[in-house]
Amino acid sequence: MVDKVGIIGAGQMGSGIAHVAAVAGLEVVLSDVTMDRAKAGLETIDQNLGRQVAKGKLSPEDMKAALGRIALADNIPALSDCDLVIEAATENEQVKVSIFKELCKTLKKDALIASNTSSISITRLAATTDRPEHFMGVHFMNPVPVMKLVELIRGIATTDETFERFKTFCDRLDKTTAVSEDFPAFIVNRILLPMINEAIYTLYEGVGNVEAIDTAMKLGANHPMGPLQLADFIGLDTCLSIMQVLYEGLADSKYRPCPLLVKYVEAGWLGRKSGRGFYDYRGEGEPTPTR
Ligand SMILES: NC(=O)c1ccc[n+]([C@@H]2O[C@H](COP(=O)([O-])OP(=O)(O)OC[C@H]3O[C@@H](n4cnc5c(N)ncnc54)[C@H](O)[C@@H]3O)[C@@H](O)[C@H]2O)c1
Repeated sequence: MVDKVGIIGAGQMGSGIAHVAAVAGLEVVLSDVTMDRAKAGLETIDQNLGRQVAKGKLSPEDMKAALGRIALADNIPALSDCDLVIEAATENEQVKVSIFKELCKTLKKDALIASNTSSISITRLAATTDRPEHFMGVHFMNPVPVMKLVELIRGIATTDETFERFKTFCDRLDKTTAVSEDFPAFIVNRILLPMINEAIYTLYEGVGNVEAIDTAMKLGANHPMGPLQLADFIGLDTCLSIMQVLYEGLADSKYRPCPLLVKYVEAGWLGRKSGRGFYDYRGEGEPTPTR
């Protein structure tokens, strides 16, 4: 039985997972590298819960109770008595491996571990822990409180019991699950990211500007968001990491990350979270295209 959930990384995804877990009645420990980052995650949750209350989807009492179930931490040993821990830190294999090494030193032996990675091999991450049979990929979509889907990815050693326990956990969060095999970027990002990368090539080659590309895909393909707007929303560093994993993992030149994407990431223009990407979000009004 899962009562207490630990979350590592209080960014866009970690705070979203903490949000839905707390609303579902679970105790949550949300941790990041500093208390300030953990607090920023809690502020995001506070705002997003407030929006749900304003829309009548949640009562003010339930919001207060959910916030009361979230504890903050700036260290990994603080998660030692959790029943299930989800790693949602930066999409970088070295970062994730060092987190798992530290986590396994103190986490209780029967606890489950998951990674929210968008693309990195679950089998390889599992092998760096002391419990590959109790490890899985649990890939939430952004924004977590809104998006229904969670991709479940088994590593080679994941037991049926672990799979069922994670499935029950996702059911409790009122999410729908889709099972993916452990191949680079799984299902959603294997299809979505090459589309976004192609949109960036379209911009790079001057086929259209930011506005034209996003308008074309919104009105011409009925996408709710343009691909460049979506890239900013995901985070351009995350998009680049996923393309690199596809490129290296599948050894096919069709996944080559667009040089313009690399340039934006090198500039620190990471999209919404840094204030600027394919759009500039720093002004008061509507975001303005940067190309
Ligand atoms: N952004 C998306 O749309 C999306 C969707 C699904 C999955 N993901 C995956 O979720 C994970 C997180 O992505 P995000 O968009 O929330 O990134 P983000 O940049 O918003 O947040 C990452 C957080 O991890 C923290 N962090 C880094 N190293 C850490 C450490 N050693 N210990 C604790 N915290 C640490 C950072 O301080 C930051 O707050 C990635 O693996 C990403 O691929 C992202």
